[in-house]
Amino acid sequence: MDPAPAPGAPVVAERYPIPRSRPTHPAEEYAELRAHAPISRSRLDFDGSDVWLVTRHADACAVLADPRFSSDFSRPGFPARMTVRPPGPGTFIRMDAPDHTRLRRAVLEEFRPRRVEEMRPAITTIVDDLVSAMLAGPSPADLVQALALPLPTLVICELLGVPYDDRGFFQDRTAVIGDQEASPAARQVVRDELREYLDRLVTDKHAAGTDDLLGRMSRDRDRSGLTHDEVVGVATLLMIAGFETIANQIGVGTLLLLTHPDQFARLRAEPGLVVPAVEELARHQTVIDYGLRRVATEDVVVGGTTIRAGEGVVVVLSSANRDAEVYPDPDRFDITRDVRGHLAFGFGLHQCLGQLLARLQLGLLWTTLAERAPGLRLAVDLDEVPFRTDMFVHGVHSLPVTW
Ligand code: HEM
Repeated sequence: MDPAPAPGAPVVAERYPIPRSRPTHPAEEYAELRAHAPISRSRLDFDGSDVWLVTRHADACAVLADPRFSSDFSRPGFPARMTVRPPGPGTFIRMDAPDHTRLRRAVLEEFRPRRVEEMRPAITTIVDDLVSAMLAGPSPADLVQALALPLPTLVICELLGVPYDDRGFFQDRTAVIGDQEASPAARQVVRDELREYLDRLVTDKHAAGTDDLLGRMSRDRDRSGLTHDEVVGVATLLMIAGFETIANQIGVGTLLLLTHPDQFARLRAEPGLVVPAVEELARHQTVIDYGLRRVATEDVVVGGTTIRAGEGVVVVLSSANRDAEVYPDPDRFDITRDVRGHLAFGFGLHQCLGQLLARLQLGLLWTTLAERAPGLRLAVDLDEVPFRTDMFVHGVHSLPVTW
């Protein structure tokens, strides 16, 4: 893209995604797009289709809150790979009302503040044990293997009530899902194995009438109108949605803290700052790098632009989270700033169901690291850290650290 467009000339990102030139910042082109062409046409690299890129915060909110933009991958015009399998029963992230509403409601109660708070002691123990094991092991260590992958896996096991003896099976499988070097076929095999496992688990919990998330969902099936397959599908969705996002958020979030030692030291001095720090890290390092995809079901005007029925849309969350109209000096990382309304967890109808659980894990991990490993630092130069470049979820393959 021309870095200095002529006044009045349309600014167009011809291809999407737009690669990063600095690994800890979204592409510079987004600032131009927000200023001059906030809703613009672009061609998707992976299937050659044309979509609307939505780059400003206000327009992103307008699209994500509007039911006329569908999340259904199977609708014509949806910007999805043709090879993607249609969503199985229960995968409500890819559904619209009324099924989305029905399924989301069936599990909503499990993510209320009180329920999530009940998980604090268990998550504190998981974090303490993982950090102790890393600090007791050889230095340098890979923080991705030591913390970023096992933490969300163990938390999901806790959430779903996976028996202790099966947690090794779970960790082995999620490690493949989190490994970008693994072939798509290998990742699909593992997903199928996990789904089969969860199918058996739901059956067992239904029979035993356990008082945990899956037991309660199974017990309430008659009242909520859910089928067995839908409960299994919801469990699979929670596992997938609650794993890769958070694993990568831990990786790039910790990296940012370590490359800003003054901020890491402040967190140690004032642990209460962890609340705004988690929000700022989620905003600054928005891991859903590709953005959120939708298709218009009727003609809709957004920010003065008409998006026609059947046209695909990509809401670029990482750009909206750097919108200077909402976050002054948006590239600056500052754990004390007020970033209310950031879009790292989405917005509107499909806003992240697990966000309180994510915040709890991230907050406990970063306060524990600041307290117990104040000398934590990168063991390599920043330009040697292997960043993911697949552009779907932003992250690092490994994070060598020492302390
Ligand atoms: C840092 C961690 C996380 C990030 C950045 C993240 C981000 C997001 C985003 C952006 C969406 C919106 C998708 C859309 O509008 O199409 C979403 C939805 C969702 N997330 Fe998360 N998420 C995280 C952690 C979790 C966790 C821990 C869980 C649960 C265990 C979870 C469960 C879900 C579910 C079920 C949805 C679908 C909601 C719906 O369609 O109504 N997420 N997440």
